[in-house]
Amino acid sequence: MIKKILIGLLIVLIAIQFIKPERNLSGNTDKDIATLYPMPDSVKLIVNKACADCHTNKTNYPWYASVQPVAFWLADHVNDGKRHFNFNEFTGYRIAKQNHKLEECIEQIKEGEMPLKSYTLIHKEANLTDAEKAVLTSWCQSIMDTLKATYPADSLKLKRPPTAPAAK
Ligand code: HEC
Repeated sequence: MIKKILIGLLIVLIAIQFIKPERNLSGNTDKDIATLYPMPDSVKLIVNKACADCHTNKTNYPWYASVQPVAFWLADHVNDGKRHFNFNEFTGYRIAKQNHKLEECIEQIKEGEMPLKSYTLIHKEANLTDAEKAVLTSWCQSIMDTLKATYPADSLKLKRPPTAPAAK
């Protein structure tokens, strides 16, 4: 009985290797945040090592990303992360959403929610030091300040509650 189950499992494991989720490789940066708001190298370095894999249009895939069921799991994180917030699509967001996402960034970093624990477990370099967190959050804050100085206060308010599903 046990043997049959194990053989069954093995067959499933082999079969799912043929399913390849679409990869996040377009690398399109037409609407990148840096096209409007300059990103210093110090910030770029931090974003690239700690956020870019899940929040841009290009993921750097490790070898094990080709192995199922890991590939499913990674694709899910990347899709979910991008849907919530994408550095490469930032200027396509309306102003209120830009403002809100920056606010979320600061919050998530300060609370240690981002980068995801499952990510920093393997990507040790994504474990941000307090100094790195400060660089990233103050950059986000500086863009929020720019928005505040540029647009009327009303246009910075989200018209619907932030809990509504994220629109693309
Ligand atoms: C391993 C993938 C991964 C990495 C790396 C990662 N994130 Fe996320 N991020 C997600 C996922 C998945 C979500 C959505 C689900 C959630 O909130 O947990 C998310 C949500 C967010 C949100 C919330 C957006 C919203 O609308 O609520 C922000 C902001 C964010 N991430 C910023 C960052 C920043 C900044 C970094 C780097 C310091 C980072 N993330 C690193 C996967 C990731």
